[in-house]
Amino acid sequence: MSPSYETLKEALRGEPLPLAFVDRDAFDRNLDRVVATVAAAGPGAHGAATLRVRVASKSVRSAPLLRRLLERGGAALRGLLCYSAAEAEHLARRHGFDDLLVAYPVYQAVDAERLARLAAEGRDVKAAVDSDAGAQRLAEAARRLGTVLPVVLCVDMSWRLAGGRVHVGVRRSPLHDVDEVVAAAGRVAATAGLRFAGLLAYEAQVAGLGDANVHEPWLDPLKRLLRRGSAQELGARRHAMVEALRAAGLPPGLVNGGGTGSLDSTVAATGVTEVAVGSAFYKPHLFDLYRTPYLRALEPACFFALEVTRVPAPGFVTCAGGGYVASGAVGRDKAPLPWLPAGLELLPAEMAGEVQTPLRRTRGNRRGASLPELGSPVVFRHAKAGELCERFAELCLLSEGRIVDRAPTYRGEGQCFL
Ligand SMILES: Cc1ncc(COP(=O)(O)O)c(C=O)c1O
Repeated sequence: MSPSYETLKEALRGEPLPLAFVDRDAFDRNLDRVVATVAAAGPGAHGAATLRVRVASKSVRSAPLLRRLLERGGAALRGLLCYSAAEAEHLARRHGFDDLLVAYPVYQAVDAERLARLAAEGRDVKAAVDSDAGAQRLAEAARRLGTVLPVVLCVDMSWRLAGGRVHVGVRRSPLHDVDEVVAAAGRVAATAGLRFAGLLAYEAQVAGLGDANVHEPWLDPLKRLLRRGSAQELGARRHAMVEALRAAGLPPGLVNGGGTGSLDSTVAATGVTEVAVGSAFYKPHLFDLYRTPYLRALEPACFFALEVTRVPAPGFVTCAGGGYVASGAVGRDKAPLPWLPAGLELLPAEMAGEVQTPLRRTRGNRRGASLPELGSPVVFRHAKAGELCERFAELCLLSEGRIVDRAPTYRGEGQCFL
């Protein structure tokens, strides 16, 4: 059961606001749900009992919480999907994490060097590439350090329709078709200093497309069609890539796909050996906008609390700070969501601001409960998972409605990667 507003208010009493906190009980239950969802999808590839879950670190951004996931998840979890070379280096050197897959291609020499050096030290680190030039950069660094760096090819899993004139998906990798991927894998395998280790094949247009969106409900039927159609197309294509690579003598040891928003369709039959999951553990509010039962079952676990510092008029309260708007296509859905006490909403003309966030009663609460008084906290949820951690040095960890621990964020460790 999630703690009530009164319980949270009591738990946070005396803490300087603003602060960020994680309901650790909900976080742990979300981990159990992810593991159960993946297990229920059946056996994994390569004879594994189930697909493994790789934790998308950008969506957690706190080393102690990453550690908690890996320890509690046991054999069901495997390694980290990192978002920069500097992050991978930090996690390896300062925290001793291993099995790191850097999911976004690097190009500058300093990053290539970082990854090659980790490999040279005997750590299990893999780098994503999607261009020959990027592969050459990594190869040069690896050769200089006398090592071999395993690389995965990042594949464009977008859905191309009408002969390529319609592009449904993100703009990432140029490698889309089976032939292109097999040819690129061959070039990697033939490059001294590199080893072809597999594929990173993330279906952003399925995972990121909420089909129960209160902000634009008229688009939901179309989004459902896109989710279904695209999952089918990319599942068949990913499977065909794996088969073609095997036939070419380049078996991909690792095929990573998925994301919190696509765990129902990223299954072993589509050729993956592991799924990347991050946001599921905090469940930011963008993941309220999906129909999938497993996403509906996840609990909000990460929050921030602002202090009410003004009462500008009856029916309004104004909090200090709060403009923690999420990245991505600009839209109403990227604003923080006032969560507790219930019955408060942002003002369209001001939204969440740099120095203040005013709130008013929702329509359903016009004659309802009294508003929080000066000095009280208002609890919000961020639209996305890890970005909130860039605003706070630590996360208070709550269990059974009390602060039981504190975990530094990357920021709290003096780190800022992207
Ligand atoms: C390569 C890759 N895999 C997986 C994910 C999914 O992450 P999450 O589970 O936090 O949505 C992302 C998110 O952007 C990603 O870029």
